[in-house]
Amino acid sequence: MYYSFLLETLPKLLLLQPFLADDLERQVLMWDQPWEDDYLGMLGFNTEQKVKYDPDVVYFATESLLYPSPVVHNEPSLNAMLATRAALNVAVLPAAERGLVIYCKGAANASSAQHVDNEDEIMAAIQTLVIPEDRFVIYDDALSMSAASTIELFEQAKVVIGPHGDGLSNILFSAPGTQVSLKYTLMHATPITVDASIYSAYAPNA
Ligand SMILES: *[C@@H]1O[C@H](CO)[C@@H](O)[C@H](O)[C@H]1NC(C)=O
Repeated sequence: MYYSFLLETLPKLLLLQPFLADDLERQVLMWDQPWEDDYLGMLGFNTEQKVKYDPDVVYFATESLLYPSPVVHNEPSLNAMLATRAALNVAVLPAAERGLVIYCKGAANASSAQHVDNEDEIMAAIQTLVIPEDRFVIYDDALSMSAASTIELFEQAKVVIGPHGDGLSNILFSAPGTQVSLKYTLMHATPITVDASIYSAYAPNA
């Protein structure tokens, strides 16, 4: 859901922004997930404008209904992503300030398709390859970082690794050219493997 929010909903909210910002009578239907308010605030929305969507309720607009262009599921356009980065003031840091190797943890729920059975082993294997050690960061979306901290973290990424899922959506904030190793866990409990080639990109002593 975080993925859809970041890459599909934020671009639509950007289209609505000029019509909604500063007008508390205009409201927007949202899922009311914990991460929403931070991003809405950064885009100039007031959280009082948020209405939690309830599938059992019929909504109607008394004056006008604003409907942004849809963003195709799983295929946000480059323009949509660039506009979102710009609206959130995402910076492209100088290469020297982009040294982090970030592992995005999979789902904790062992029944989830985004769960990785051998995750501890994988993280330990990566850790041994990253020098200095403090450049290795584990991103766990269960820890609910603020939007600002999430953006700041992923701006500093040199390599982002992880199973497909919400955590990896944050590469939206990483600089062009950041190495990304995406592992699909197509079947529940399929262990992911670490592809050594990604590490060759990370040569701290080179
Ligand atoms: C774990 O994941 C399964 C499969 O997606 C789902 O049916 C179940 O509700 C989840 N359990 C929890 C506690 O979230």
